[in-house]
Amino acid sequence: MLRGRLEEVIDLGAGFWIWRVRHPYWKPSDDWDPVVTTTVVKSRGEVFVIDPIAPDDAAKIVWERLDVDPPTQLVVVKPDHVRDVDWFADRYGATAWGPGLVDPTDIPSTRLSPIYPGTELPGGIVALNAGRWGVETPLWLPDQQTLVFADALTERNGGLRIWSTPWDEAGPRHALGRLLRLPFKWVIISHGFPVHGRQAYVRALKWDPWMSDELKEWAQTIEPYRKLLGLQNWPTE
Ligand SMILES: [Fe+2]
Repeated sequence: MLRGRLEEVIDLGAGFWIWRVRHPYWKPSDDWDPVVTTTVVKSRGEVFVIDPIAPDDAAKIVWERLDVDPPTQLVVVKPDHVRDVDWFADRYGATAWGPGLVDPTDIPSTRLSPIYPGTELPGGIVALNAGRWGVETPLWLPDQQTLVFADALTERNGGLRIWSTPWDEAGPRHALGRLLRLPFKWVIISHGFPVHGRQAYVRALKWDPWMSDELKEWAQTIEPYRKLLGLQNWPTE
């Protein structure tokens, strides 16, 4: 297992912080920034590490903090964010949670208790629906008034954006709109600048989703399907 360099630690509140690591398997052709985010939150006595990616041994600040307040719960928010959950499960003996669907190319050896939209985890944390076939279950941290996403949203040129789902642009927009019913002030994402406010989220729902050239190319391959279902002309909400 390769481990990346720690780039940044950001404190967000008591027992609430993120670390950002240069992803060791990132390739220049990837449509995301090489520095990715892991979130730590202490909620009602439980210490969560969300989408855990392990920095290298030089990241003393991370390892020392985790040794002082060891993780009790690990969450994988999306099948391709398994990352280093095995490493953290072995090191801390924490309970691990993850998607009901797994990525066949990245199956962890740790047993993940499945989470679905509506699952309440210890600490009062609630799994949500991002409208992407249920493959991503963002989390609501009620005490921190924060939503934590994997890839449903991304940041490009300073703006928070929905990350395109070419086979169903309206579904994610609708599901993400529903989340405005929750009292949250902050949004954390994995790819791009990690912390955004509620207003940025509202703006993201109005903007066109982010679609890379590669994704646009792929969307062409399902053009007959998109045409049949009128997906090209799907009204923005
Ligand atoms: Fe991702």
